[in-house]
Amino acid sequence: MSAALFAPTAANRQPFKLIVIHTEGKAEEIYRIYDREWFSDAPILICACGIPELGWVRGDGKSYVDVDVAIVMDHISLAAADLGLGTCWVASFDVEAARENFRIPPSAEPIVFMPLGYPAGTAGEKERKTLDELISLETWDAGRINHLLLYHAYRHYVIRRLCNISIIR
Ligand SMILES: Cc1cc2nc3c(=O)[nH]c(=O)nc-3n(C[C@H](O)[C@H](O)[C@H](O)COP(=O)(O)O)c2cc1C
Repeated sequence: MSAALFAPTAANRQPFKLIVIHTEGKAEEIYRIYDREWFSDAPILICACGIPELGWVRGDGKSYVDVDVAIVMDHISLAAADLGLGTCWVASFDVEAARENFRIPPSAEPIVFMPLGYPAGTAGEKERKTLDELISLETWDAGRINHLLLYHAYRHYVIRRLCNISIIR
């Protein structure tokens, strides 16, 4: 969980709270929150909540609380992967059931659940768009990127992030 402390947040506001939930003996209420067996079967769930009144808001009114929470949970999922744990992002849950079960006040918003546990099997192949579809150079509609250059930059970035996170173990 301490990987969360390495996550940057807008203006360093840290406008979030993570509720760590042991699922043992709570299968029924957890199934009510998200009706998938793999969800209630996971030994641990993290419920990541944003606290809008603490978050940074840009001049045009856009709140960055969701972005902050996503970065925090991304740090946790990378640290979990480093420990051999599996995770999944779950946004499609029953918000009211979550509020009621985990006593989340109106001032906070549950944004994502992340089950944690040792994977039961191996993950399937990732389906992703191509780099050309996702990335453009200099402007929105400009030309192709150099794939090899991008691959090396990405590999370097992932290795650096995983190394940083490993140190906290
Ligand atoms: C913000 C977010 C919300 C998601 N919500 C759900 C969800 O409610 N239920 C689910 O089964 N998967 C959910 N996912 C998982 C995505 O469907 C999954 O990551 C995507 O299909 C790509 O699959 P892969 O991660 O195996 O490559 C979510 C992922 C993200 C990033």
